[in-house]
Amino acid sequence: MSKPLEGIKIIDFTHVQAGPACTQLLAWFGADVIKVERPGSGDVTRNQLRHVEDADALYFTMLNSNKRSLELNTKTPEGKEILEKLIKESDVMVENFGPGALDRMGFSWERIQELNPKMILASVKGFSEGHRYSDLKVYENVAQCAGGAASTSGFWDGPPTVSGAALGDSNTGMHLAIGILTALMARDKTGKGQKVACSMTDAVLNLTRVKLRDQQRLDALGFLEEYPQYPHGEFSDTVPRGGNAGGGGQPGWVLKCKGWETDPNAYIYFTIQDHAWAPICKALGREEWIDDPAYNTPRGRQDKIFDVFATIEDWLKDKTKYEAVDYLRKFDIPCAPVLSMKEISEDPDLRASGTIVEVEHKKLGKYLTVGSPIKFSDLKVEITGSPLLGEHTDEILSELGYTPEQIKQMREKKVTAA
Ligand code: COA
Repeated sequence: MSKPLEGIKIIDFTHVQAGPACTQLLAWFGADVIKVERPGSGDVTRNQLRHVEDADALYFTMLNSNKRSLELNTKTPEGKEILEKLIKESDVMVENFGPGALDRMGFSWERIQELNPKMILASVKGFSEGHRYSDLKVYENVAQCAGGAASTSGFWDGPPTVSGAALGDSNTGMHLAIGILTALMARDKTGKGQKVACSMTDAVLNLTRVKLRDQQRLDALGFLEEYPQYPHGEFSDTVPRGGNAGGGGQPGWVLKCKGWETDPNAYIYFTIQDHAWAPICKALGREEWIDDPAYNTPRGRQDKIFDVFATIEDWLKDKTKYEAVDYLRKFDIPCAPVLSMKEISEDPDLRASGTIVEVEHKKLGKYLTVGSPIKFSDLKVEITGSPLLGEHTDEILSELGYTPEQIKQMREKKVTAA
């Protein structure tokens, strides 16, 4: 079948991670994504953290697959004219410039609507419109800090901690993609485009909502029973950092396995799901806990939860993380090994499912990237290499009706590439 988003044309005015992650997802599903980049330099990530001289960095290639690249100086009159033509022909424009940059370039929402009333303009900013910090430029960790993730991550005796997961960047891009698809469906009904915005801090907060739940419970009760601070520690008036505690009534912890002294990832995550208590006791050879009222309810176990974890760690000390999980899975216990990036990159199951894919790039050669985490019964998502800077400039200009002579002139005037 043809791809679901085939026929949707997207002007990809994005850079770094939040915007490119959004447009890449839409490109995977069939949209024609045209990445508009500054002549000569392009998206800054092309050059960031390169490991092969003269080849685009993985930072770029892993966020810009399946796209086309148009080098265009949109601050020149000719560049603006080309962008206007593109706007008239496109369905969506996605941008994540600093606040006000698009307006300064002459492409305000009002101007875009004038050019194409069906256009959907999708923007990522650090803070939402009207927020007192809405003029700030923002990167990943700034958003994690302002969105509530950092103050609630890490250990109680350490500083606020950011996550290795791109909660501010790629997560915002995923939120924006949902917004764009929603606006496209709305347009089918109304015939009109609209502006869609997602701020990085709001997207972080959306994923941190359970901590807002906890703040309200703390305000009401003065304690949070599922946090390690309960019942022996102290609570202040704000949600504390809970280390590796499992939230939501399923206590859990990261536990050491055989080899932890030398292998920083020789751990499993072990969850004590209430209805799995009897199987857990059987698995650990502690059948006496099954009917012991001091242990056989979550409330009874609460003040002994770290003793229970210590017992499990003792049981784990002669088992690798894989041996432990292979045994515990027979008892239906929710657990998993802590996997390193090296293990993930070599994982045959992730390769088989297309979650990790090897892609060919014209200059970089073969590289690994993360494929679509969303699986469809009627769509096979194929990941292609990211475009070279300006690779499709001539092709796109000729699609817009420019003659080879005009295209040559644009190049000479440095409106496109020098
Ligand atoms: N031709 C000509 N000019 C171009 C262009 C093109 N093709 N593409 C971009 N530009 C210009 C813009 O018009 C803007 O110029 P101006 O500042 O003179 O108006 C400039 O390049 C880009 O500015 P900006 O986006 O502010 O870049 P920056 O490197 O200073 O800041 C960020 C980078 C990411 C901090 C900032 O873009 C930002 O806060 N974005 C919103 C939040 C976000 O997405 N953060 C990153 C998440 S990964």
